[in-house]
Amino acid sequence: MIDVHCHMLPFVDDGARDWETSLTMARMAYEDGIRTTILTPHWTGQPGEIDSVKARRTELAERLRDAGIGLNLLLGNEVILTPQLEEALQNGGALHLADSKFVLLETAQLEHGAFNRKAIFRLQTHGHRVILAHPERVPSWEKEHTELKELIQAGCALQVNAQSLLGGFGKGPKLAAERFLKAGWVSLMGTDAHSTGSRPPILSAALARVEKLIGEAGARRLVLDNPQRILENRPLPWVDLDAEPAKRGFSFPWSRG
Ligand SMILES: [Fe+2]
Repeated sequence: MIDVHCHMLPFVDDGARDWETSLTMARMAYEDGIRTTILTPHWTGQPGEIDSVKARRTELAERLRDAGIGLNLLLGNEVILTPQLEEALQNGGALHLADSKFVLLETAQLEHGAFNRKAIFRLQTHGHRVILAHPERVPSWEKEHTELKELIQAGCALQVNAQSLLGGFGKGPKLAAERFLKAGWVSLMGTDAHSTGSRPPILSAALARVEKLIGEAGARRLVLDNPQRILENRPLPWVDLDAEPAKRGFSFPWSRG
């Protein structure tokens, strides 16, 4: 499996608090069947931030090698929409996922209506492929889906958190994640791991739940096939909001180019 959302790097955000935690998280991920993790520290736009993130990634990779943990580490960011974001993405001051054109966008701030939709669409028209991180955790999207559907229609991909499906963020996000999955709107599931405890780098427990909801092939797409497309910078399968469940997942090669 490939984890597309993880805060395993220490000293760069609110994720792993030290090297020991990072190593334990890496071991947990590997034992869970994850072979590649895209490290996605929160982007803040501070000077020197990306240099520090890259140096920590190099050091973590060395420590994993020394410890005999075969987890492949790639780099990205979980970004927030600011007026500076697009320029930062262009000049390397903020990172796409694994050198692709995919951008993992934090959604906690997206409850402000048209301005954000415009900013997202602007990113897309400049070639960035937008992934909305854990939309099930946005309270206003739990039951009212007009805005979310507009974003999906415009080509935004949804990434749910494994912990949401296990009830780790409460009943609302759990039900919303299940609803989005059953509707066929979800392209990716990540751990969004921050620690070894309440927010661990584990996909398998939630995957079992996802298999029950949408079947084995659908579950596999979320943690393997679609993340692999990100690594290869290939478009994710188009989500047809009006399709019958059985027809979903068909990919038009010309869509989301
Ligand atoms: Fe995150």
